[in-house]
Amino acid sequence: MLRIINVVGARPNFMKIAPVIEEMRRRSSRIEPLLVHTGQHYDESMSDSFFEDLQIPRPDINLGVGSGTHSEQTARIMVEFERVLLEHPADWVVVVGDVNSTMAASIVAAKSLVRVAHVEAGLRSRDRTMPEEINRVVTDSLADLLLTPSRDADDNLLREGVAPHKIRFVGNVMIDTLYRNLERARASQVLDRFGLKPGQFCAMTLHRPSNVDNHETLSGILDALEVIGEQLPVVFPIHPRTRERLDQFGLTERIRKQSSLVLTEPLGYLDFLRLYSNSRLVLTDSGGIQEETTVLGIPCLTLRQNTERPITVTEGTNRVVGNDPAVITREALAALERQASPARVPELWDGHAALRIVDAIEEAS
Ligand code: UD1
Repeated sequence: MLRIINVVGARPNFMKIAPVIEEMRRRSSRIEPLLVHTGQHYDESMSDSFFEDLQIPRPDINLGVGSGTHSEQTARIMVEFERVLLEHPADWVVVVGDVNSTMAASIVAAKSLVRVAHVEAGLRSRDRTMPEEINRVVTDSLADLLLTPSRDADDNLLREGVAPHKIRFVGNVMIDTLYRNLERARASQVLDRFGLKPGQFCAMTLHRPSNVDNHETLSGILDALEVIGEQLPVVFPIHPRTRERLDQFGLTERIRKQSSLVLTEPLGYLDFLRLYSNSRLVLTDSGGIQEETTVLGIPCLTLRQNTERPITVTEGTNRVVGNDPAVITREALAALERQASPARVPELWDGHAALRIVDAIEEAS
């Protein structure tokens, strides 16, 4: 019996673990999965609602670490997760994505001599001012099995000297979740709730420190939204970090008065899927949304200087535009003029990545 501890912590982890856990449970005669939630994200809208929407079993263990500085959060996860590994001997620890929980659990597992499998290995922005880039580099350097979503990720790992036998190209597990839920999301009332018509609005998400932690940058992005809003309303679910910064910089009143902005709390998975899949254009600084819009053929502007997901630009609908308000405005207006190009789905983003992930873990055991 393979004992596998799966670790999640923050919102973008939940859609990646859902199909993996499901696949492990299907093999219950051979695999005994345990689900650990670090508690990095803890709001109902950032965590619980995803477990419900994606029908993920309740975590067996919640470490309840909450927010803090990077070091505080990472250290708390490490201390608590070490206890879990002592109490629950495991053959593998599976970590996903690039959040602090991913890196913290990998360090603990590696030092406890438990093998680490990293789902979404090999992505690189080559921008070490991003906390996620540090998390990726550390996690991949410790992982025993590196499960990659695209061929460029394999190339990155090989260039860094990772042994080829540790690398397995399995495809994109987020897209498993996307395909599984497209039909279910049709029942969401989100468009009616905000009075939106398909194809006649933009959707926006923003939470990167590089965009929201600086007053001038954040208010510049709001300037761009004002101009874009003259063409189409922009629906903006606000991440807790962004809400805090808007308050701190005294910008909350301003966005409330911007009539073309539709403001909301963070949305659940199904509501957000219904929303962006019907939008005319997405503006985001998220990683996963670049991939989801690519698969659905929705034009996407990424408000960052770089992307660790270049395939969404070369094969998909994504453009990396930075955070200069003049450039965002120009690119958004141009995108609204253009005909959307048809969806082109990258290799192995086929809805069966979880199957290949669990196969790879079993084969490596
Ligand atoms: C984290 C991930 C980021 C991911 C993002 C998705 C890291 C380094 N960053 O960023 O890669 O794209 O999640 O959302 O792991 N907060 C709440 N409620 C919550 C969670 C957070 O109010 O449930 C607030 C707290 O004030 C906290 C702040 O948001 O200090 C930031 O949370 P944190 O988990 O540190 O990072 P995120 O910005 O959410």
